[in-house]
Amino acid sequence: MDITNGLGVPQETLDAEIKSFFESAPPLKNSDDIGEKLKKFIERNSLSLGNGEARRVVCVTSGGTTVPLEQRCVRYIDNFSSGHRGATSTEYFIKAGYAVIFLYRRGSYQPYCRSLPEDPLLECFEYTDESSIRVRESHSEAVKKAISEHHAAVAEGFLLKLPFTTIFEYLQILQMVATSLRSLGAHAMFYLAAAVSDFYVPWKSMAEHKIQSASGPLDMRLVQVPKMLSVLRKDWAPMAFCISFKLETDIKILLEKADISLKKYKMHMVVANELLTRKDEVVVVTSNEKISVRRDKTQVGDVVENPLIRVIVERHSTYVEKPDI
Ligand code: PMT
Repeated sequence: MDITNGLGVPQETLDAEIKSFFESAPPLKNSDDIGEKLKKFIERNSLSLGNGEARRVVCVTSGGTTVPLEQRCVRYIDNFSSGHRGATSTEYFIKAGYAVIFLYRRGSYQPYCRSLPEDPLLECFEYTDESSIRVRESHSEAVKKAISEHHAAVAEGFLLKLPFTTIFEYLQILQMVATSLRSLGAHAMFYLAAAVSDFYVPWKSMAEHKIQSASGPLDMRLVQVPKMLSVLRKDWAPMAFCISFKLETDIKILLEKADISLKKYKMHMVVANELLTRKDEVVVVTSNEKISVRRDKTQVGDVVENPLIRVIVERHSTYVEKPDI
């Protein structure tokens, strides 16, 4: 009897690993609030087109997850991601008419803030003689644009922002989002640009207090984080259009690894990117194509997410017409 579900892991083992991950995770502090926000956001966008059709909703994940080493966390392992990809893609999805659930790492890049300096509060504002604060002339256009575009997206109900820090928060919120979006069927999309931890310390075996360096070298066993891509596709939101990312530093293995990921987790697309060139070009891998997408260097300020989201929206439209699950 074949019980390995194409992942090389018996289904029962995978189910047990997933169950153990969620059972051992510290419960989300604000799950009622998140549930309520999701419900309202999805209801609003389900009715918004007025022609009986729901607006398409994409969950964009962005930034890296952390793995705490102590319950009262002083130290943690982090994953590389500035959040630039997720934040910029969010802007282009909204421009294309999507509603976006932006699941992001606290402190990472935010949509509509690209043209602001690194420390906007200190660099964009100045103190006047009349003891008030005003926007510096040099930054006034950028600040006006960022505030008005962000405000419009939130006020019109196109942008819901949900923050995470740890791998426990990220996967629990992702599960809530996915099961909430199930009702939208093929109109829902997952764009999984977050850099997700591969190993974690189960909460129950984690030290409660700060690990003492006087005890000598640290010997710690990390358990593998079950890949949730397969359960997302199979159980949480089986009709949704799913895009995952593949990041490598060695270009020679990148496309092969993306291809493996596409098949193994039954993704609709895998966006392959290499660390050093990720802001200039990516390759969209599907079951029958490898589409190279580059930013237009002749256009000042063009970003690779502009043509990338165009390709994705086009393929999603085809999928909505004829979902192949
Ligand atoms: O944020 P920037 O600085 O702009 O950089 C963008 C980026 C390089 C981080 C982004 O484009 C990217 O490639 N993100 C995915 C990086 C990554 O973690 O790749 P991975 O090979 O470890 O994981 C592949 C996929 O599996 C990801 O879509 C991830 O969401 C998913 N995954 C990973 C581990 C895990 N335990 N479960 C998962 O579901």
